[in-house]
Amino acid sequence: MSTLVSGIAELVTNDPALGPGPLGIVADAAMVVDDGRVAWVGPAAAAPAADARIDVDGRAVLPGFVDSHSHLVFAGERSAEFEARMSGVPYDGGGIASTVAATRAADDDRLRSRLRALVGEMRAQGTTTVEVKSGYGLTVDDEARALRLAHEVTDETTFLGAHVVPAEYAGRVEEYVALVTGPMLEACAPFARWVDVFCEPASPHAFDGPASRAVLEAGRAAGLGLRVHGNQLGPGPGVQLAVELAAASVDHCTYLTDADVDALVSGDTVATLLPGVEFSTRQPYPDARRLLDAGVTVALATDCNPGTCFSSSMPICIALAVREMRMTPAEAVWAATAGGAAALRRDDVGRLGVGARADLCVLEAPSYRHLAYRPGVPLARALDVVNP
Ligand code: NIG
Ligand code: FE
Repeated sequence: MSTLVSGIAELVTNDPALGPGPLGIVADAAMVVDDGRVAWVGPAAAAPAADARIDVDGRAVLPGFVDSHSHLVFAGERSAEFEARMSGVPYDGGGIASTVAATRAADDDRLRSRLRALVGEMRAQGTTTVEVKSGYGLTVDDEARALRLAHEVTDETTFLGAHVVPAEYAGRVEEYVALVTGPMLEACAPFARWVDVFCEPASPHAFDGPASRAVLEAGRAAGLGLRVHGNQLGPGPGVQLAVELAAASVDHCTYLTDADVDALVSGDTVATLLPGVEFSTRQPYPDARRLLDAGVTVALATDCNPGTCFSSSMPICIALAVREMRMTPAEAVWAATAGGAAALRRDDVGRLGVGARADLCVLEAPSYRHLAYRPGVPLARALDVVNP
């Protein structure tokens, strides 16, 4: 059954062939959706007939947000750690251990209901594709469980057994890396599309360059795509390692040298910026302008997790990117949609040209600009074309 979506004041397609600029904007637009895909896009005056019709009454429509970085399988919360940070206590990854303990102690239903609630929060704010990482289990069984649960809600699942070295392996990093690259990877790979590592020599809890390389190379040998947490807390090898190994994305990118930027320019690894993290840790924001002006592909994601950013809101990331990172509203919206799709190596989401998935985000506003112009206002929601 085909559905005509009419009354679109401004349609962001991210297809420059359909309209001006990288956002490919069509004003006074309509769209036909058939079998979950975009079948036709153009000016309302030229719209063909369809079996059903939804009128969005002068609202803007965007591709649903693609949140390419989140950690949604966990129990407990760390608001006291957040409060301490706001008074000046720095973040170093140490708090992850308390979430690991709470997650190991939780049963499947508790983890599942938290996970589903967060995915629901995201959808209610316009996110239609979400990547979900493991990383709060850190045993073979607990990591495999996290990925099995994550796989119930998304195909974009990431094995992050190398999140931190768990307490029982303190001082035995090499043995833990052997576990991650051996039995843990074997148990997790069937449920994962990606492997990730917290590459951060500046943290006493995370992994250095050689350990990170071992994790990524083992993941690649098991058929997984590569992602990296890099350069969040200080300069480090994460970005250059990610580019060298042709990772799909390197995420955080807060502390970059000229050589890191040069590496990103020379490769096709996406730089995923997570401004909710800097908001929630009082770290300096990444220099998005330096990356964009150099020609690097930039994505925005929430990193939703109980430690560094307990927000599921892509609109807040967009507003922060514009206000604090000097991205234009158009650059930020592109990064939160097409950028996220690039970071997940997807061409069926993050755009609304013919053939794309009809994953729509509708705004209680006439233009995408309102996402940054009206921060904190619940303007965005995912639109289900079949059951609106
Ligand atoms: O992406 N940096 C490492 N991992 C998460 C934070 C996890 C936590 O603190 O619970 C991040 O910021
Ligand atoms: Fe993260």
